[in-house]
Amino acid sequence: MLIFEKIKDLQQSLSLAYSNKRIGFVPTMGALHQGHLSLINQAKKNNDIVVVSIFVNPTQFDNTEDLKKYPRTLEADFKLLKTINCDVVFTPIANDIYNQKIQSESFNFDGLEHQMEGKFRNGHFDGVGTIVKRLFEIVKPTNAYFGEKDFQQLQIIRKLVEKHEIPVHIEGCEIYREIDGLAMSSRNARLTEKNRDAAPFIYKTLKKAKKKFAKKNTYKVYKWVEKKFKEHPLLKLEYFEIADEETLQTISEKSIEKNYRAFIAVFAGKIRLIDNIRL
Ligand code: PAJ
Repeated sequence: MLIFEKIKDLQQSLSLAYSNKRIGFVPTMGALHQGHLSLINQAKKNNDIVVVSIFVNPTQFDNTEDLKKYPRTLEADFKLLKTINCDVVFTPIANDIYNQKIQSESFNFDGLEHQMEGKFRNGHFDGVGTIVKRLFEIVKPTNAYFGEKDFQQLQIIRKLVEKHEIPVHIEGCEIYREIDGLAMSSRNARLTEKNRDAAPFIYKTLKKAKKKFAKKNTYKVYKWVEKKFKEHPLLKLEYFEIADEETLQTISEKSIEKNYRAFIAVFAGKIRLIDNIRL
């Protein structure tokens, strides 16, 4: 497994050994878990080489505490990546990748950026768009892999690629969960024991909401979810929304031609967890 910190070294190696080969790319912020590995395994199936980047991107954090406390476990990440025979790891440093100017570009994602996470995390998607665009310029992947765990991010990356005519195919990968249903996340490691025990309630509620959505009107589903979280002693609901998968606009009336998803953000103590389910 090759590890590069410098852009130049990575590019030199890729152009020497892998020109005309299919490059599969998995961008991450590290603290790797099985969810990340499922993306890498997917990438391995359809490419000649897999590149994983590990970079805790400062411009996508609206909360300095969250950035400071974001888990950084580089050595463990390398070990894990070796066990699944990852080919190349790219671990850039901020000044290098941002060309000394650690600042986001401003994007128009046709309104996708104003929904859900966009309402609660100021500037988050400008930060994500900036770093992913930059990483695509550097790695020039054939295919890039993103998790449905961050479904809004996945749709925004698709929009970024379309609008900026970036020649990469974007592949969405299913949410990987713990046995008790909690969506895997680097943030789960920061949950207290009590909150970790409580957290599977989020997915359980999403699954019940899905059943209710099939029979009832959306207003009733919203009210039911809100009530469930009001009654919960540890978990605090930030938002629950049912939205069109394509536009991410919330709906009040169902239409059979459209695909919908329910999205949720919940605080367990200071830790913010997100999840979603296809309806
Ligand atoms: P990070 O949170 O490290 O996630 C990296 C990728 O792994 C994302 O595409 C995310 O959706 C996916 N992922 C995380 N948990 C998952 C799970 N349980 N199941 C399936 N996929 C999962 O997302 C980011 O980093 C950053 O915003 C990034 C795209 C790297 C830009 O900085």
